[in-house]
Amino acid sequence: MTCARPRIPCESSVRHSVIALAIALSGCSGIQSALDPKGPKAAGVLHLTWFLVGTAAVVYVVVVAMLVWVLRRGSQSPVDLDPKLGTEVTEHHGGMKTWVVSATVMTTIILIGFVFVDLSTARSLSTVGGAAPLRIDVVGHQWWWEVKYPDPNDPQNDIETANEIHVPVGRAVLIKMKSGDVIHSFWAPNLDGKKDLIPGHETVTWFRADTVGVYRGQCAEFCGYEHAKMAFYVVAEPRIEFERWLAQQRAEASTPGDSLAQGGERVFLSSSCAMCHSIAGTGAGSNNGPDLTHLASRRTIAAGTLPNTAANLESWILDPQMIKPGAKMPANRIDPQSLRALVAYLQELK
Ligand code: CUA
Repeated sequence: MTCARPRIPCESSVRHSVIALAIALSGCSGIQSALDPKGPKAAGVLHLTWFLVGTAAVVYVVVVAMLVWVLRRGSQSPVDLDPKLGTEVTEHHGGMKTWVVSATVMTTIILIGFVFVDLSTARSLSTVGGAAPLRIDVVGHQWWWEVKYPDPNDPQNDIETANEIHVPVGRAVLIKMKSGDVIHSFWAPNLDGKKDLIPGHETVTWFRADTVGVYRGQCAEFCGYEHAKMAFYVVAEPRIEFERWLAQQRAEASTPGDSLAQGGERVFLSSSCAMCHSIAGTGAGSNNGPDLTHLASRRTIAAGTLPNTAANLESWILDPQMIKPGAKMPANRIDPQSLRALVAYLQELK
């Protein structure tokens, strides 16, 4: 037995289709995919999605099947006309009414079912999944994420970073969110649904990463020119590694090791850099832009726009507007020697 195309056995064709479907579905996995949940909240959202899509698909198939059946039946049986009036005989209208009533009742039951499942999912996901969640504060800015880890026992231990959120795997994380300007939306699809950050109003969400990994998040509410370049990364790591990271972030910036980096520190502190950024342990203490105390420990710069490399840092410092037009950071006139020293210094901020 062969299919319509010559010399391709049906069995082989079916196998190819299954492989193609598997490849298509595996494309849905990855570091930024709501179809590849790595925690209970994203899994709950995905289950709800499949339930809604599955039910809608069944309804669609039933409706189309009935439409085809009615059309075939209608084309096969001639229309009975009343010999006196010349109009269609109406003896089947009683049956039609039954169909309409049944369809209306079924639709109502399905819609009420949707509301019930939706509300019960929202209710179960609103409960934080785990005792003693880790508290993280996130502030959305055009166009970057300010991230703080307050220590409830000792404010001296509070840390601040940007665009990269480290979490211990298996522990719930409670995120309190605010906006510094316009409405943003925090969305790490592998871990959680979307949650808006609203000016003047604190919102709260939580998630738990059950698998070690690096997950990409994205602002999901249009917030201006560079909305698309407002990404962040969630690094889910074993508890010991997370504690090590936390201790490292609590430390002040390291002293520059060589004369080149020492020159870079002088460039930083004497230029406009220090008017917007802070580096703990130096005279730079402004909060207009991201905290740079441990900049070199982050994977990316410019809110996930570029990998954190020396070449990208140079390009970014010289002309951020080329890379992220509209960003608040202006272009900098800086001679090549000073730029090299400045980047050497920034790369030591581990
Ligand atoms: Cu922030 Cu879109």
